[in-house]
Amino acid sequence: MSTTNILIVGAGAVGAFYASRLHQPQAKVLVSVVCRSNFAAVAASGFRMRTRAFGDYEFHPHGVYKSCEAAVQEGTHYDYVVVATKALPDIDDEPATIAPVVGRGTVVVLIQNGLGIEEPFRARFPENAILSAVTVISAAQTEPGVIVQHRWTRISIGAYKTPTDTPSSITAAEEATRRLISIFHAGGIADAEHWDSDELQRVRWHKIAINATFNPSAVLSGGCGNAEMLSDPLLKAHCVACMEEVFAAAQRIFPDAPFPPPHLASIDAIVASSLRNTASKPSMLLDWEAGRPMELEVILGNPIRIAKRHGIDMPRLATMYATLRSMAIRRGLQKPREAKPSAKSSSTNESSL
Ligand SMILES: NC(=O)c1ccc[n+]([C@@H]2O[C@H](COP(=O)([O-])OP(=O)(O)OC[C@H]3O[C@@H](n4cnc5c(N)ncnc54)[C@H](OP(=O)(O)O)[C@@H]3O)[C@@H](O)[C@H]2O)c1
Repeated sequence: MSTTNILIVGAGAVGAFYASRLHQPQAKVLVSVVCRSNFAAVAASGFRMRTRAFGDYEFHPHGVYKSCEAAVQEGTHYDYVVVATKALPDIDDEPATIAPVVGRGTVVVLIQNGLGIEEPFRARFPENAILSAVTVISAAQTEPGVIVQHRWTRISIGAYKTPTDTPSSITAAEEATRRLISIFHAGGIADAEHWDSDELQRVRWHKIAINATFNPSAVLSGGCGNAEMLSDPLLKAHCVACMEEVFAAAQRIFPDAPFPPPHLASIDAIVASSLRNTASKPSMLLDWEAGRPMELEVILGNPIRIAKRHGIDMPRLATMYATLRSMAIRRGLQKPREAKPSAKSSSTNESSL
């Protein structure tokens, strides 16, 4: 049995949680991590995991590195490079960050929220398989190296395809997806799900309906959590209308099947479950409160631009994007320019969205 080397770039809440489940030395699956602000803590003592799904445990990655350059110095070839940073294409050039660890045959896996996140990676790595993953999890890094997972998990994974992909590259990407999912299952992530490329993009749109509604509204409402917003009649009407706007756009972009897909929640179900979740705050609100950049481009900017290219306006999302982006720029959190995904590469993929 040959060794499978996995490198997680961005070992925060999501990255460390999945790293700890994928690391299976007995099965020769070795997971290393590239850390940033938590490097010293993780290099010294690994991660302390406080999980609802698996209890409390320590996780000591195979390697802990300060950068991708450092991660290749020992000559390791990585089979999978998993990007689990916040997706901030207006601030970071993530494909450039991971370029040193992406070799021939390396599979790039993106576990991030948002739409259009794959395109810059496809442009930089035209020969490598790219897998797109959407996760439902409530996790946080409460102090450097301490990861708390609050709620249930699902991770939906699919190969990212473009019309120029060859049959052999598609076969390789599907095989890489199957292999990764089998490692997730062996690590106890029973609900790791394999979707085809188009279906995975529909899952992304569904998650956007939630993220693009509650994240910006939480900041713009002055700091309300999801349940709080839904308890206020005006804010509830706004949130429901935002979700309807995204659902309607997704239905027009994917006309061949009803949206949402039957396995995903209706707006009523999202409202009901959000009303029960009184504890947590949307990540954009946490980022705003902490003075960190927000995932504005991938959660609002890209969906608005992708919809526009299909002739669809999303005025509620566009209003939130314009106002929140201005607030972030004035506060010095975001750069006054748009995300990079090119219109050309986006539209190529949209035809298969
Ligand atoms: N947390 C959740 O419950 C959840 C649920 C679903 C989806 N997501 C999505 O998952 C993605 C990751 O979110 P998260 O909550 O895990 O974020 P997070 O806790 O902030 O973790 C991101 C990590 O990436 C690190 N990082 C950023 N740039 C890096 C670089 N160039 N090199 C090395 N490390 C780098 C950050 O370091 P610093 O500390 O230095 O910034 C941080 O440790 C986001 O797209 C998010 O929207 C999160």
